[in-house]
Amino acid sequence: MIHPRHDYEDHGQGQVFRFFDQLNSEQQDALTREASAIDLGEVARLFETLVRNPSGGNEALADQLEPADFIPLPRNGGDAAKWREAFETGEAALRSGRVAAFTVAGGQGTRLGFDGPKGTFPVTPIRRASLFQVFAEKIGAASVLYGKPIPWFIMTSVINHEETVAFFERHGFFGLNPERVHFFSQGLMPAVDEQGKILLADKGSVALSPDGHGGSLRALVRSGAIDRMEADGVDTISYFQVDNPLVRCLDPAFIGFHLLAESEMSSKALPKVAPEEKVGVFCRDGSGRDVVIEYSDMPERLATERDAAGELRFRAGSIAIHLFDRDFVRRLGSGGDAGAELPFHKAHKKVSFVDEAGVVIAPDEPNAYKFEMFVFDALPFAKNPVIIETAREDDFSPVKNAEGSDSPQTSRDDQLRQYARWVKAAGIELETDDTGLPTVAFEITPGFADTEAHFVESVKSSREPIVIEEETVLI
Ligand code: UTP
Repeated sequence: MIHPRHDYEDHGQGQVFRFFDQLNSEQQDALTREASAIDLGEVARLFETLVRNPSGGNEALADQLEPADFIPLPRNGGDAAKWREAFETGEAALRSGRVAAFTVAGGQGTRLGFDGPKGTFPVTPIRRASLFQVFAEKIGAASVLYGKPIPWFIMTSVINHEETVAFFERHGFFGLNPERVHFFSQGLMPAVDEQGKILLADKGSVALSPDGHGGSLRALVRSGAIDRMEADGVDTISYFQVDNPLVRCLDPAFIGFHLLAESEMSSKALPKVAPEEKVGVFCRDGSGRDVVIEYSDMPERLATERDAAGELRFRAGSIAIHLFDRDFVRRLGSGGDAGAELPFHKAHKKVSFVDEAGVVIAPDEPNAYKFEMFVFDALPFAKNPVIIETAREDDFSPVKNAEGSDSPQTSRDDQLRQYARWVKAAGIELETDDTGLPTVAFEITPGFADTEAHFVESVKSSREPIVIEEETVLI
């Protein structure tokens, strides 16, 4: 077999093996393995088409964009009977065991700056339960409610895989059956410098990073997760991100709308609060396909346009909650269909690297390009896509940044506001401020209730009267 070193030299990437002769044989083998897994042709093509010669602006395309249709909530004019039918259809699907939960947790969480996989971040107000624990409890509660253990697939990356699995083991899988929790790692892509040269993280390893949440589709296929779903009778995948503790991991109405429409990919949308809010927007492109346009690609004149009622015309924001049909994922994730492959995007980032002298440099400014796929790029390939409106306060409060917006503080407050709404709906007195934030901090675990309706029922059937005080935890 030809050593990949020659291939790298032929592709102008010989620097990857610059220190090869200084490595011991184990390190040499490791670098060789890493290098063999990289598709040099793909790296060259991405650098050429995304960095060196990016196709010009998409103003012409933008001219043809229309807002995508979405199904409004009943409180905003949606048909309540349709929502009820969808809810019942979704519940039947959950009872029949055809739905799996799927969390993408392969990201690096650099903005949060937490030392450990993001899913292990303590997020709830009193117990300080981790994001993973919150999801585990929601999935566990749904499994009890629907009488079927709901499988949970978790995508990691090699950077956080072992730590993630060890965390679950240490916590007894939070009461879930370990045989129903499946971990797999996503793919990696090398970072390149401004000239397209692959960077080394140290003398014996390439600067690799996860290939984006869009990498989840091919990782589901490559890891065998899709085969396992098929063997277990699962045909519907409920996709959510690891950073959002409010997410309804298995939402019956959403599942119902998806199944009733025979949709291959469905999405939840939130009305944007302001044009500058940093979420992608669901649009319909010139050929009538639904697409998500990133906020940075949305021309300002469209982002700020208002309709006759004074609402933002392009307001359906994407919050990374989707349902996938299993066979659609198999098709897209195996790159089988001509043209049906997710595109890569570039990100200009700071990446530590080894310089020619073998010294590790941590740059102050972006020095490298990373290549990532985005899961919402699957949307235009899907048949019968469905978009439904959701309520921010019941579905979305992510932990992205260490401080400020979308931070542990805002997410904690949003959890408290949700508990407070449920408590008031059950007729229990509770003092809140103008924003709905209770004046005492307390917690409702998903095992007690994970929707307002369940909470009201649980309170009714509770033998003891429910009293909410500082640090109350309802389990
Ligand atoms: P983000 O886009 O917020 O990225 O990911 P991130 O890596 O978590 O955080 P920053 O940007 O470094 O601060 C959104 C979701 O997609 C997952 C993340 O784990 C998170 O659930 N993701 C992201 C992956 O699973 N793989 C990736 O390659 C990127």
